[in-house]
Amino acid sequence: MFARFVTLALAAVSVSAARYPSFGTLQTTNSSGVMNVVINNTYSEINLFDLHVQSDLANLIETLQANDTDIRVVVFSSANPQFFLAHIDINYFLPGYESPLPFFDPGIPNMTFPVALLWNITQLPQATIAVIEGRARGIGNEFLMSCDMRFATTSPSVLLAQLETSFGLNPGAGGAMYLAHEIGRGRTFEYVFASKDIDAVTAEKYGWINRAFDTSAELRDYVEALAARIALFPAGGIVGTKAGINAVSRPPMDVIIQQAQNIIGVLAQTSVTQAFSKKFVAATNNQSLGDLELNYGEELVSLFQ
Ligand SMILES: *[C@@H]1O[C@H](CO)[C@@H](O)[C@H](O)[C@H]1NC(C)=O
Ligand SMILES: *[C@@H]1O[C@H](CO)[C@@H](O)[C@H](O)[C@H]1NC(C)=O
Ligand SMILES: *[C@@H]1O[C@H](CO)[C@@H](O)[C@H](O)[C@H]1NC(C)=O
Ligand SMILES: *[C@@H]1O[C@H](CO)[C@@H](O)[C@H](O)[C@H]1NC(C)=O
Ligand SMILES: *[C@@H]1O[C@H](CO)[C@@H](O)[C@H](O)[C@H]1NC(C)=O
Ligand SMILES: *[C@@H]1O[C@H](CO)[C@@H](O)[C@H](O)[C@H]1NC(C)=O
Repeated sequence: MFARFVTLALAAVSVSAARYPSFGTLQTTNSSGVMNVVINNTYSEINLFDLHVQSDLANLIETLQANDTDIRVVVFSSANPQFFLAHIDINYFLPGYESPLPFFDPGIPNMTFPVALLWNITQLPQATIAVIEGRARGIGNEFLMSCDMRFATTSPSVLLAQLETSFGLNPGAGGAMYLAHEIGRGRTFEYVFASKDIDAVTAEKYGWINRAFDTSAELRDYVEALAARIALFPAGGIVGTKAGINAVSRPPMDVIIQQAQNIIGVLAQTSVTQAFSKKFVAATNNQSLGDLELNYGEELVSLFQ
């Protein structure tokens, strides 16, 4: 009886809090000030950053922004062993794309919805940590860049990339700008121009991620202890520290809008990018699990032959 009541009460809370449609792609559990968020896009074989994940993330962000919780740390991980977050749904750039989400964010002038999502993550009042055990490319990597900290396993399924240049695009949510700060200008040009995958060992060496662990257990233990420690401290310390680090190491909002988002907006309309996007959607069987999605960094060259 009591368990039944609790279940209903929780369901009612999440329904009344949801501003955008709920698709159940994020599973959250709370423990001692730490919220664990598992990204589980059941609409996609490759944990696509599609409208379902975006909608659920926007609702989650609204809850976390409220400051009325005892959550101090948010840990993002993935239910998909091959993909942390594959990339954006490429159909977003193609005619006929339909979504219940607004094109521009209603709260941030001139910022598109997915870019606003990531911007908002950079300034949540909690510390944010990504636990990476699969691929994250394009906006998947930009999501990682928007988190405060990134930890991975050395598993071969960890491959990170900004793949936009191969589409005739640029990283539209500012991923390359964040990377230039993390790994330096020359390495950013190398990886982003070439749309190359980086493995976890190299990513750790360059500073793309904080640290790589040999096993999933070591990764999870380390992050659990780190999160629990940070969660002991007063919220003001986290919020104040984040504001300062953001002030010196986050690209400014107008730079992201004008030099990332608005450029991708123009490039996405070009015939060369439209043609490549259609080719990609066809070659991946509409972004199904397969060789091209798994090994894009290696396989993409074949799309140009
Ligand atoms: C939460 O706190 C931050 C930092 O103090 C503040 O900027 C923001 O407006 C607060 N959010 C709400 C919904 O009160
Ligand atoms: C976790 O905490 C958030 C923020 O307080 C709350 O909205 C959510 O309902 C909690 N989730 C669970 C499963 O308790
Ligand atoms: C992801 O969601 C599906 C459908 O609800 C569920 O069967 C599966 O166990 C979930 N995976 C994880 C790792 O939570
Ligand atoms: C981003 O945060 C602003 C408040 O700063 C809010 O108005 C807007 O709805 C948020 N958008 C998303 C997509 O989270
Ligand atoms: C939004 O874009 C328009 C057109 O480029 C510009 O005139 C306006 O100043 C922008 N608003 C903000 C808040 O950046
Ligand atoms: C691809 O799948 C999405 C749903 O995930 C669907 O809306 C779209 O129409 C599909 N596109 C093609 C070309 O099959």
